[in-house]
Amino acid sequence: MKILAIESSCDETACAIVEDGVNVLSNIVATQIAEHRLYGGVVPEIASRRHAESIYQVVQSALDEAGCTLNDVDAIAVTYAPGLIGALLVGISFAKGLALSADKPLIPVHHIAGHIAANYISHPDLKPPYLCLVVSGGHSHIVEVLEHTRYRVVGRTHDDAAGECFDKVARTLGYEYPGGKFIDKAAKIGDAHAYKFPHPKVDGCEYDFSFSGLKTAVINLVHNAAQKGESIVREDVAASFQRTVCEILMVKTMAAAEALGYKTIGLAGGVSANSGVRDALQRACDKRGMKLYMPELKYCGDNAAMIGCQGYFDYLAGKRADQSLNGIATLSLEKISE
Ligand code: KG4
Ligand code: ZN
Repeated sequence: MKILAIESSCDETACAIVEDGVNVLSNIVATQIAEHRLYGGVVPEIASRRHAESIYQVVQSALDEAGCTLNDVDAIAVTYAPGLIGALLVGISFAKGLALSADKPLIPVHHIAGHIAANYISHPDLKPPYLCLVVSGGHSHIVEVLEHTRYRVVGRTHDDAAGECFDKVARTLGYEYPGGKFIDKAAKIGDAHAYKFPHPKVDGCEYDFSFSGLKTAVINLVHNAAQKGESIVREDVAASFQRTVCEILMVKTMAAAEALGYKTIGLAGGVSANSGVRDALQRACDKRGMKLYMPELKYCGDNAAMIGCQGYFDYLAGKRADQSLNGIATLSLEKISE
């Protein structure tokens, strides 16, 4: 079964053709980052406009690269939540048009479910149940993946998402937006023990996260040094910050896995590209005899192949949308599991 999948929830216009959930025939991603970089973050109005300008070409390229036409496709999958509402609506409207004109079923896909599904593309042997750490620019969750389409969120962030924290710290250190990957690069040459940053305390659930205290600690360190005219080695700050984030993510995920009895762990979302996070989780899992699944780097950030993969499982579970499908800016994974 061939699915044409569209993703436009943030600043990437993406389309993929995916066969039977795991065979990626094409995966086109048009990024708008260069333009948003001028403003230090994603500007929603600009994102919507750029999606509208590029979506036709992105979809056509995905069909061409897969060597098919719309007639060869069996269903259309589209990200409908969560995300920037104007950005989502461009993908949804285009997908609705395709489904209507070609008389194909329309499958609504949750963006975070898509990130989780990225692992099925790279690792067809991975099957629920397992525990997944999802860390992206907008979300930080520890999720029990009970079935391919059923989830229980056991940990979440009380403030910033992990990716957001990477990006804000990167900005303070003078790196371009989105700075996560620059911190990753700098951390490879910096001294990870040069600075000691706090592990923020979180009230409530022990698997919940909080990153704003850590972010503030780094910002204060940099600003205080600037005020006193002291120089800091930004690679050392980056490495020390990254080590702290990795420890927090690792400790919480391992605690949840041990308490809930999971031996299979997944990692997903844009921050899953981070080499420190990958290493820390791999070492922790190896030590405990747990098996870790991580997406290939090309499927860590936003893409439509992951939406096509999740769309396949949603299709098998009977999920369908009609022409009244609308975008939803905020929607928890648990809501779609009911
Ligand atoms: O999943 P994603 O592409 O978009 C959202 O759904 O939010 O995640 C984007 C986030 C950004 O904050 C970006 O800086 C971060 O993922 N990111 C990284 C790395 N690559 C991307 N963070 C740390 N290290 C990386 N190598
Ligand atoms: Zn994402």
